[in-house]
Amino acid sequence: MKSSTFTAIDRQKQIYIGGLGGRKPLVPVHPEALAEQARRKMSKRAWAYITGGAGLERSMAYNRAAFAQWRIIPRMLRDVSVRDTSVSLFGHTLPAPFLLAPIGVLELAHQQADLAVARAAAKVGIPMIFSNQASVPMEACAQAMGASPRWFQLYWSKSDELVASLVRRAEQCGCTAIVVTLDTTMLGWRLRDLDLAYLPFLEGLGIAQYTSDPVFQKMVDRPLPSDEPSLKPPLTLTTLRKIWSLMWRYPGSFWRNLLTGHPLKAVRTFIQTYSRPSLQWEDLKRLREMTHLPIVLKGILHSDDARRAVDYGVNGIVVSNHGGRQVDGAIASLEALPGIVQAVDGRAVVLCDSGIRTGSDAYVALALGADAILIGRPYVYGLAIAGQAGVEEVLRNFLADFELTMGLAGCRRVTEIRRERLLSVR
Ligand code: GLV
Repeated sequence: MKSSTFTAIDRQKQIYIGGLGGRKPLVPVHPEALAEQARRKMSKRAWAYITGGAGLERSMAYNRAAFAQWRIIPRMLRDVSVRDTSVSLFGHTLPAPFLLAPIGVLELAHQQADLAVARAAAKVGIPMIFSNQASVPMEACAQAMGASPRWFQLYWSKSDELVASLVRRAEQCGCTAIVVTLDTTMLGWRLRDLDLAYLPFLEGLGIAQYTSDPVFQKMVDRPLPSDEPSLKPPLTLTTLRKIWSLMWRYPGSFWRNLLTGHPLKAVRTFIQTYSRPSLQWEDLKRLREMTHLPIVLKGILHSDDARRAVDYGVNGIVVSNHGGRQVDGAIASLEALPGIVQAVDGRAVVLCDSGIRTGSDAYVALALGADAILIGRPYVYGLAIAGQAGVEEVLRNFLADFELTMGLAGCRRVTEIRRERLLSVR
């Protein structure tokens, strides 16, 4: 399949011709300018949550630095007049080797949150991975996407019944893979959020997949073990203002919410159940029984874990350090990638994320053996700046940059992007 009739050259022309009329691109093309403009659009707390990483953010720096180890060696005179960026994943043809990484609490970036991203993804034809911590229920996003591809990212909560319900809903929503995030059984130590004393979930943000879930709703009605007294929020005007706003935002009528206290119980239920640090390899068997969809494990960084994943019958792996949000000083995803590709040896799909900011970053990851890559924070920055249209622009720029890099490096199709096209300069 040809990638699309709208090529990288068309995108370049669109931008330069717009410039003749004094028009600048809707969102900055340079990744740093993109982030900077998004920062100006977002509240301090929203920015900290989206952009931040764990600890001193060394893993984020390592993710970027890892790309500097590789040089692309372009080849000449290879007729690159037609460039096909399409790939096939789990039997589905995609226009490019990209997916949108699952990112939670998108309402921090824009009011239309996941819905805007879903519409943009569908328009550009790039699969969206619905986040378990979304701000909009997956059903609404699926409806907005029509037949466009989507996957679902799962956090394995303390309740298997809830896990089964989320998986069932994802299947009904037409998701074609389940991505289990393994690296966030607890939240990382995130200095920016800690210094602002801000966790969006406590204010009822980013829990729409839960509050729209029939099993979760029943869980909310059950009595909860009482919280440690020192963990009760202080009763201040700020707390009251936040509770008031939660009552308005929560599904259902304001008065009913206020009278029943249901939204507060939902937040407490979420906090007590959302993560399962006891998760082990054997648990994967239960997930396998819950669904026939391909299972993808996200957060693998060691080749032994990758081998084990394949032994447990998983269908894919995302080599990821969660955009540097979990372990400070962790190995960069790109550093882990070649060993994992070797360990998997073609027995599962290998995806990669964390630190990918340009088309040439994507090229390098593919040359090191990734089947596709996940785009993360940059699309959230586009969302913050210009909603759906901003996400579309980020994706179109990414596609154009990748297509040009591929062609200029002498590749007509993605399968030609191989390790021997890189030089290591470590
Ligand atoms: C959750 O996935 C987070 O990274 O905050």
